[in-house]
Amino acid sequence: MEKIIVEGGNKLKGEVNVSLAKNSVLPIIVASILNPNNIVIENAPMLEDVIVLTDLLKSMNCKIENIGEGNLEINTSSLNEINLNSELIRKMRASFLIMGPMLSRFGRCRISMPGGCNIGSRPIDLHLKGFKLLGAEIETEHGYVEAKAKRLKGNRIYLDFPSVGATENILMAAVLAEGTTIIENAAEEPEIWDLANFLNSMGAKIQGAGVGKITIEGVDSLKGISYKPIYDRVEAGTFMVAAAITNSKITINGANEEHLRPTIEKLKECGVKFEIRGKDIITVDGTKLKSPVDIKTLPYPGFPTDMQPQMMALLSVTKGSSIITETVFENRFMHVAELVRMGANIKIDGRTAIIEGVNSLTGCDVKATDLRAGAAMILSGLVAQGRTEISDIYHIDRGYVNIEEKFRGLGANIYRVDK
Ligand code: UD1
Repeated sequence: MEKIIVEGGNKLKGEVNVSLAKNSVLPIIVASILNPNNIVIENAPMLEDVIVLTDLLKSMNCKIENIGEGNLEINTSSLNEINLNSELIRKMRASFLIMGPMLSRFGRCRISMPGGCNIGSRPIDLHLKGFKLLGAEIETEHGYVEAKAKRLKGNRIYLDFPSVGATENILMAAVLAEGTTIIENAAEEPEIWDLANFLNSMGAKIQGAGVGKITIEGVDSLKGISYKPIYDRVEAGTFMVAAAITNSKITINGANEEHLRPTIEKLKECGVKFEIRGKDIITVDGTKLKSPVDIKTLPYPGFPTDMQPQMMALLSVTKGSSIITETVFENRFMHVAELVRMGANIKIDGRTAIIEGVNSLTGCDVKATDLRAGAAMILSGLVAQGRTEISDIYHIDRGYVNIEEKFRGLGANIYRVDK
């Protein structure tokens, strides 16, 4: 079993290059189903989640080739819509995004229901509500969901909650639908804008992505393109917290200030300083004494739930009381028990965690209970006294490219062992 070992105590310095956003690349790969022409996705991060998704598309008879430096050449012209590999679909929740484009291009899709996951039950009701309003007939039985429609028809769809996945799935379904679709209370995450930008570059007609009300004029066909997705704001944010927690100053290449605004503003409130050095380059100065802060996770542009565990690691060693309220997922505090093992003083009351900053953490055996919880364990390990051994690191590999190498490049003592 592989583990990541962190020997705490080193300060960080220098520069780090952030990869492109996993949460953009996944829907963009899926959206290529809408287009039978050749598409190149530039510099795709070759993460476990990306590999699972490309394997799924390959199992459906799509051609996907890494033509160097993560440039993925995709051709879905001979896609075989029947042959969906349930095992691969169950491996990753994001594969449910396949339904929108499949329904839009083939008028039919049957896939196994995604299960819950360890951060919450994660239902799909909003996805299905959108497909129904676009004219699809939906049947769910024996753990499968099947959607059928001759040709989807545009409609007005109001989402009860601005779900990222539902917005993406409905957006993709509407691209080849007849007429106009309006998605209201749509998610505003930068990855939604990126997906719409990718689709528009291929000839889709989408307006308003990223501002809550998205209008999609259906088109009949799309053209082939080459596209570079946006940088990973969660990876960049993780390095920002790394600078803060180790009292260090580092430069992050591939950090978009606008996309990172909620994280940057919260870190500024803690006492971290930022210098914008050019397009997508930010120097983070975490050398000053930090203050406690209160955080409530919310859909974008609120504070991202995907940065909550990392911020909790920082606040665990920030003198004073901080309160974190998690409103997006119902069970996203599993890292608390691991932080407490390291000496943190955190109490949970429902969806709220009360953190009393301690002087220091001590290294021990901990688990990456989910992807971002795993990042929080690395961050805590960087400041803990002694050695932190992190297990279940397959979660971390789902979302961070070469994480130990990147931290080693900044001067951290971190490595992977197989034991
Ligand atoms: C995406 C991100 C994930 C991030 C999350 C919230 C990807 C691949 N993953 O996940 O990293 O943490 O956004 O920013 O982009 N919900 C419903 N019904 C639905 C759909 C969602 O009730 O039909 C609820 C979920 O249970 C959850 C909340 O909405 O409590 C947010 O989920 P959603 O925005 O859909 O997240 P994902 O797209 O799954």
